Amino acid sequence: MLVETTCRLKVTAKESKGRIEDLREQIRGHDELYYRHANPEISDRAYDRLKNRLSELEKNQSQLDLFDEKPPSEKSLGNGTEDLSPSQTIGDDRLTAFESYRHIVPMLSLDNTYAKEEFLQFDQRLGKLFDLESLSYVVEPKIDGVAISLTYEKGVLVRAVTRGNGVEGDVVTQNILHIKALPERIKGSSAIPELIEIRGEIFMSYKEFLRINKDREAAEENLYANPRNLAAGTVKLLDPKEARNRNLGIVLYGLGASKPKGLFTRQSDFHDAILDWNLPTVENRWLVESAEDAWSAIEKLDLLRHKYEYPTDGAVIKLDSLAMQVEAGATSKAPRWAIAYKFETEQQETILEDIQTQVGRTGTVTPVAHLKPVVVAGSTVARATLHNADELARKDLRIGDTIVVEKAGEIIPQVVKAILEKRPLDAVPYSFPTKCPECDTELLRAEGEAAWRCPSRDCPAQIRGRIQYYASRNCMDIENLGEAVIQQLVERELVRDVADLYDLGRDDFLQLEGFAEKSADNLLEALEASKKQELWRLVCGLGIKHVGATAAKDLAREIGSLEALSKASEADLTAIDGVGDIMADSIRAYFADDSNSNRIPRFQEQGLNLECILTTFGADARLSGQTFVLTGTLDMLTREEAGEKIEALGGRVSSSVSKKTSYVVAGPGAGSKLVKAEKLKVTVLDELAFLKMMED
Ligand code: IVH
Repeated sequence: MLVETTCRLKVTAKESKGRIEDLREQIRGHDELYYRHANPEISDRAYDRLKNRLSELEKNQSQLDLFDEKPPSEKSLGNGTEDLSPSQTIGDDRLTAFESYRHIVPMLSLDNTYAKEEFLQFDQRLGKLFDLESLSYVVEPKIDGVAISLTYEKGVLVRAVTRGNGVEGDVVTQNILHIKALPERIKGSSAIPELIEIRGEIFMSYKEFLRINKDREAAEENLYANPRNLAAGTVKLLDPKEARNRNLGIVLYGLGASKPKGLFTRQSDFHDAILDWNLPTVENRWLVESAEDAWSAIEKLDLLRHKYEYPTDGAVIKLDSLAMQVEAGATSKAPRWAIAYKFETEQQETILEDIQTQVGRTGTVTPVAHLKPVVVAGSTVARATLHNADELARKDLRIGDTIVVEKAGEIIPQVVKAILEKRPLDAVPYSFPTKCPECDTELLRAEGEAAWRCPSRDCPAQIRGRIQYYASRNCMDIENLGEAVIQQLVERELVRDVADLYDLGRDDFLQLEGFAEKSADNLLEALEASKKQELWRLVCGLGIKHVGATAAKDLAREIGSLEALSKASEADLTAIDGVGDIMADSIRAYFADDSNSNRIPRFQEQGLNLECILTTFGADARLSGQTFVLTGTLDMLTREEAGEKIEALGGRVSSSVSKKTSYVVAGPGAGSKLVKAEKLKVTVLDELAFLKMMED
């Protein structure tokens, strides 16, 4: 009997060890995608399930005494966390392109649960520890964004750092300084400490998420799956100017280090100070005296949160007393004094009525699910993107299936799975088209890519897409040239290329449905006005792969004309800050194609503005070609204002110091950028010298 038991345990142990390794590997992969690439492949719920499963198996394994080492949770959080199981670490968002900074107080994660029972157990554990019947908690919304630590020294914001690996994070100050709600200086009736680390969450509002994705869709750039991914991607943009074009938001909720120590006795006092200092904080919070009342607050929050402008995925319940927080302590990854109760994402069943494909500007074929309309999380859903053929095959969806839908990040409808038990006998398997649904050309797929593409430049869907993009608000901004008009112009073969737009006459428009003399004249006027648009808009509107609005502005300013851009060498292009090898190759390949380079003389004849007129950047463009890096604290100007002054004179602001940097403007608290500038012998200006230079 004894032998049998031992054998059984051995087999189980071996099996479970294999499974544990497998799960650790999977979770490390998902951590990398979530934290470093802001592009997770699975839902948070599915990720939490994997992590729970791993923890369970690890618990059993240590019962079987397979580990002769100390359980990892007892290890201190150091830089060698790579050796720990991912169940004991908090992921790592650090990227080599950013300067690192060591948090004074480490930034931990939170244990989370989806079960009321587990929340009550958390309360019982603490009750036992403190020998108290009931405890005071603060209940706050859990914002689904990116954790950030702000350091204010003498009331001035000197640094914003991501969580990183909990010990050390990336310095992203430049990318968040423009957040309107975030004061660079705190003022208030309560004393301003010498130094304070304030923790919070950077978020992207639903509204901003939809706006940015809409623009990206038009530019055929990859869409963000949810507001969190977009917030994470924006915080880690290498070009702060691009970050400035995206309106991030911030909510502050936690205390890190402070000098002097012991400024607050309760979490709720800290909240009051945040409000007094005019810092943005959680929309609602509840100070409660028992677990029961905390539960009622959680339920209230679940009703209220749908009205917030940003996504929330749960409630965070924290012990109110800071002294008790210290006593409760923490494991290597999470405090024992707080827990996140996560809300289940609302899912609904509906019928998959059809799958249709859409062809985009560059020929990408995207499958779209057509659903029997169903209300999910407050709005009716009738369509959901299926991303690509692989994703569709993985889900094995069939027309007629009953499927489960939810909203990713509470906003983008997506098909979770088909319910196999409900699959009707006549459900139709879907086969992805091999030919373009618009022009019947054989579809191609490049090695390593998930998307199938139509390779024909003459495909009407691509022609429409290119023209729509050219006319869009981000590019030439041609009023009244909308989707329906473009559809007719292409259908009637009046337009094949963007340059054809300028050969259209009044009569051409009068043939179109819904057009009368007035509307035809308005459109002609809008086309005429677009000829005077700035060069960067035209460069952007050409739809050169990898050239978005920011790059188009840099190219127009530095190269000066469309003609010169078409002839620029690889070296000319990569000499521009922000233009790398991939973009340079793409620009050269674009103009090597005759159909693109031949458009330039045509544009010339039609009278389009093909030069970068420097007055576009202000009456005086004497800083053209010069790059500035701002570091440390400025007293008289905000960074934003300093950046605006530089750009108004034709200069450029960059976040990192390189050989190409012309000036570093350094204020008090400047760190590694100043050291690098001195090493590279870049001229360093203090704020006064900088202001004088702007005025001269
Ligand atoms: S307190 C020491 N409060 O959720 C723990 N975190 O999943 C400090 N989060 O890493 C965290 N809203 O980035 C706290 N009201 C809130 C929060 C919140 C969102 C994030 C935070 C944390 C993650 C854990």
